Amino acid sequence: MRTRPLKVALLGCGVVGSEVARIMTTHADDLAARTGAPLELAGIAVRRPSKVREGIDPALITTDATALVRRGDIDVVIEVIGGIEPARALITTAFEHGASVVSANKALLATDGTTLYDAAALHGKDLYFEAAVAGAIPLIRPLRESLAGDTVNRVLGIVNGTTNFILDRMDSAGAGYSEALDEATALGYAEADPTADVEGFDAAAKAAILAGIAFHTRVRLDDVHREGISDVTSADLASAKRMGCTVKLLAICERAADGRSVTARVHPAMIPLSHPLASVREAYNAVFVEAENAGQLMFYGPGAGGPQTASAVLGDLVAVCRNTLSGAKGPGESAYTQLPVSSMGEAVTRYHISLDVADKPGVLAQVATVFAEHGVSIDTVRQKGKDGEASLVVVTHRAPDAALSATVEALRKLDTVRGVASIMRVEGE
Ligand code: HSE
Repeated sequence: MRTRPLKVALLGCGVVGSEVARIMTTHADDLAARTGAPLELAGIAVRRPSKVREGIDPALITTDATALVRRGDIDVVIEVIGGIEPARALITTAFEHGASVVSANKALLATDGTTLYDAAALHGKDLYFEAAVAGAIPLIRPLRESLAGDTVNRVLGIVNGTTNFILDRMDSAGAGYSEALDEATALGYAEADPTADVEGFDAAAKAAILAGIAFHTRVRLDDVHREGISDVTSADLASAKRMGCTVKLLAICERAADGRSVTARVHPAMIPLSHPLASVREAYNAVFVEAENAGQLMFYGPGAGGPQTASAVLGDLVAVCRNTLSGAKGPGESAYTQLPVSSMGEAVTRYHISLDVADKPGVLAQVATVFAEHGVSIDTVRQKGKDGEASLVVVTHRAPDAALSATVEALRKLDTVRGVASIMRVEGE
């Protein structure tokens, strides 16, 4: 084993960074043996230097992250500060000064991954980011490396623990959305401002990263159709239950049937209780990957948390350090297919539509005609009437989302349709 250590700089010492520093210290011998050289934590850039950080040598702490990445003797920079800037500038500067980078920054990778990949390639360095998607779950490496010889057609998953916790509480405890959100906040699953999680931004960033890697094309955050869970009601969960389903916030990345385009979307959807994703409870994540030859693969585990996310960071650190020692290089950007990303209207899905209608002759026929006029085939219809009013639940077969939403718009215009009580996509069948 080489005795001269590889030098590691850590940008950020919060929930994840402090765990990375702790494990690098407590497991130094194992990490050295697995890497082939000792790993030396050479500096830690933080915003609040006065904060007490147990087990961390205060001499390593600096507020000057730029100077740290410019040192020139750093082999690997670990970026766990998040956000677009200064993270992007620090990462590109790190490459310019000879370091490889391990990042957990989903927002940056989803928004401008190309800048990072290009800088890494220009300087012959590695960019690894297992921790950016689904915390501890090995997913990026399996997609980038283990499945490099296969053709991935679909990635379907629960990639946000906060929303899964909320929906799980609504399902299992009958809680309303606000009550479940309050519980998630009290338990530390939801941030004080939960927007990024509950409105699907976090999941959309992860979907962009997964779709780009899975289909070897460029998918940006803006390409991902996004709907959050803040409009999901107890009534939606109750309807789902009646259908033998539950509701999950899903990230769905698909190759079109003709193979010429891809779609990436995040929205709540009903899935059958028999689907493996239905049994993903609390704040856990799970991702289903469907590949031409491998078939269906499922990855499951904790999608967040300090030690859990640090586990993914350290796995990358060891891989990058091994590459550094052997003069090898990990995978770079693979976007050769240049498949375009289609709009949500072209995604093919099913709808569960709950309508309040007048209960009189001809209403069902009128409603069915609207579906037929838009080329949407009905799978099941359930009606329950009382005192001249009825609730009508229609589940469709698969159809382009644009046709389904045009159907709903036309239904709203019918005099006999008093209201559209809920619309939800149905997936996983
Ligand atoms: N806030 C995310 C979640 C974890 O709830 O899953 C970090 O991406």
